[in-house]
Amino acid sequence: MSGHRLPLLEDLPDPSGKKVLVRADFNVPITDGKIDDDLRITAAVPTIQWLQEHGADVTACSHLGRPDGQPDERYSMDPVRRRLSELAPGVELMENLRFDAGEEANDPAFVDRLVEGYDLYVNDAFGASHRAHASIVGPPARLPSAAGRLLAREVEVLGGLLDRPHRPFVAILGGSKVSSKMGVIEALFDKVDLLAIGGAMCFTFMLAQGYSVGDSLVEPDWVDACRRFLEGENKDKLLIPTDVVAMGPGDEVQVVHGDVPDGWKGLDIGPETTLKFIEPLTKAGTILWNGPMGMFEDSRFQEGTVDVAEAVAGSHGFTVVGGGDSAAALAKFGLDTHIDHVSTGGGASLELLEKGDLPGLVALREAANAPG
Ligand code: 3PG
Ligand code: MG
Repeated sequence: MSGHRLPLLEDLPDPSGKKVLVRADFNVPITDGKIDDDLRITAAVPTIQWLQEHGADVTACSHLGRPDGQPDERYSMDPVRRRLSELAPGVELMENLRFDAGEEANDPAFVDRLVEGYDLYVNDAFGASHRAHASIVGPPARLPSAAGRLLAREVEVLGGLLDRPHRPFVAILGGSKVSSKMGVIEALFDKVDLLAIGGAMCFTFMLAQGYSVGDSLVEPDWVDACRRFLEGENKDKLLIPTDVVAMGPGDEVQVVHGDVPDGWKGLDIGPETTLKFIEPLTKAGTILWNGPMGMFEDSRFQEGTVDVAEAVAGSHGFTVVGGGDSAAALAKFGLDTHIDHVSTGGGASLELLEKGDLPGLVALREAANAPG
């Protein structure tokens, strides 16, 4: 880590008349050529506008999906370009950076080609700043560089969350894979007052508690890791479901307490668990929510996620929601405007919480114009 702080837009040389390359994370969900959720595009607009108002000529660039280093029409930036031109007229958008294998390989020759003709570089791609890819870590070594407004805000909120949170600090984690959340559970566990585990990842915890989980999703390799939390000195901070909504033979749906029978699959937290999760939220000073409580895309399994979303939205505490799925759930239920900070990062927000830093931030702090 360098001793320099993150350079902000104000730390750039006068952008007037300059060509500025803005790396954004426009990796948005697209179905049949239509953008399902444009949060990642709208969130980058303030940075682009600031640069334009200061006389810059702005070109944006991003990856979209995982095209694997070659052009692939399915991952064309066209839908994003159309939306961006409505939100921020006058900005150019390059084609998908991952159409070139040099992007993910962090190839120096690719970085050279990318920055050619540009005077300044701005990283506003929080959601991709955990990737040491060419467009994220390369340009700051070559051009005066800065964090955009979105990136700076994400770092301020998520980076500061674990420092001196208003208490009680309650975290609610969901989603399907406990393996992808272990690092963040580890990092949060000391800092939070309560950690509630929902989503399919709760079944690996339930297995570690000795329950049978039927046909529910589990990651057997992670049972021991879950058990360490369940038996550790902070075990009282953990809230694990005691009932779940499960689907059984003939697609029958029932609330199941404790053991999930063979042939049944848990797909949402149950009503008793939901009450246990949302009760502490009413008194929380800080709430971090990452990951849905169940398969909310199906209305039969959305109740847990809806109730948690409403409780988070109704909280008087400082509320932070991370991860594309929880953000999508909030938007679906019309609750997104009630949250203090909806992060545009999934993996990036988890990694920042876990490690306190990201490759993209390190690169910016090492830029020649970074303030000491
Ligand atoms: C994301 O959506 O998580 C970011 O855009 C990064 O994409 P990636 O996981 O394909 O690197
Ligand atoms: Mg991802």
